[in-house]
Amino acid sequence: MKKRKLNKKAIVVLSIILVIILFEVINPIKLYNKHQLKELGYNDTSITTILKNGLKKDILENKYSKSLDTVLGSSDFNRDNYNVYKKINYYNLKYYTKDINLLIKKGYTTDDIENILKSATDSSIAEFVDKDYDKDVSSYLQYDYSILANYDRYVAYSKEHTIDKELIVTYVNIGLDKDFYTDTNKVNKFSIDMLVNKYNELDSSFIPDNLVSVPEEYAVDDNQQANKTMLEAFKKMSDACQAEIGKKIFIRSGYRNYQTQQDTYDLYLNTYGKNYAENYVAHPGFSEHQTGLAADIKAESSETFEGTPESKWLRENAYKYGFIFRYDKDTVDITGIRYESWHYRYVGEELAEKVKESGLTYDEYYIRNLNK
Ligand code: DAL
Ligand code: ZN
Repeated sequence: MKKRKLNKKAIVVLSIILVIILFEVINPIKLYNKHQLKELGYNDTSITTILKNGLKKDILENKYSKSLDTVLGSSDFNRDNYNVYKKINYYNLKYYTKDINLLIKKGYTTDDIENILKSATDSSIAEFVDKDYDKDVSSYLQYDYSILANYDRYVAYSKEHTIDKELIVTYVNIGLDKDFYTDTNKVNKFSIDMLVNKYNELDSSFIPDNLVSVPEEYAVDDNQQANKTMLEAFKKMSDACQAEIGKKIFIRSGYRNYQTQQDTYDLYLNTYGKNYAENYVAHPGFSEHQTGLAADIKAESSETFEGTPESKWLRENAYKYGFIFRYDKDTVDITGIRYESWHYRYVGEELAEKVKESGLTYDEYYIRNLNK
């Protein structure tokens, strides 16, 4: 009798345990929670972290966040940093969560962290997180075009130049904290907006796309070549100049290949000396003329371009045809080239208007807006 009672009791206890286990496995509330979070877009690891840390309510009150999904799914997730994680955008960095944790620990604000991450690459952030806290970080990294890899150069350059941080960042990104022709980038992919200057170099074998001969009525001789799109625009510009002020403009020097640029440099060197050649002629590989998109322009009214009605008309109107003026009197420190009233560069109408409006050199405009 007693044994039977005991058995019954055991069965009841066992059944309860079984029900509890079963309930845990197919817990409808838990399943529902998981379902909701999954619906929102979170991955399984993130969902486990969310439920374990009691974050479900907060997460469900907001939209899906790729940055949260990344940190929640990472083994580096730290519950104490949740409120910072929530405010930061996603950036494709290998140690995204770990880097944020390290930056918080160093004392950086949420805004600082956002600025650092948006300017970073895997290698530049790996170096940066090893450095001491710097309260000025956002003053350098606040711009869309700030580059974390250049951070130490920004700091060094600003010790020597009392100019706005915006200019510090722009100039260093151009390369101006180093001598001209130092640490140059290769830019061998032809594009209408490509930047070629004393830091951006073409191979000797670089030949622009769609190189065509310039018809004699638009050139000073029959040896001139240019990119086809540029030439079409130049023709329109020359025709418009004639229609508006009764004078034509001609291409005196359009496309110059690497060797021709070398010869041009040597000619200036031998005729006027090194200083003059350095200031007026780019080294071979560093000339816009090699892109087929630049032209030295000759006016109909005079051999000297400066001061002619054509030169004045061009300064006002070239942008309408997609050309920008490239080497001004007060931009020598940026371009490394002296004032050249005759040198124009084709970039397309839309961009030419923006560059003119910006009042910047193309070097600055490009570094701020087009540098990928
Ligand atoms: N004269 C211009 C700067 C050139 O050589 O490209
Ligand atoms: Zn030129």
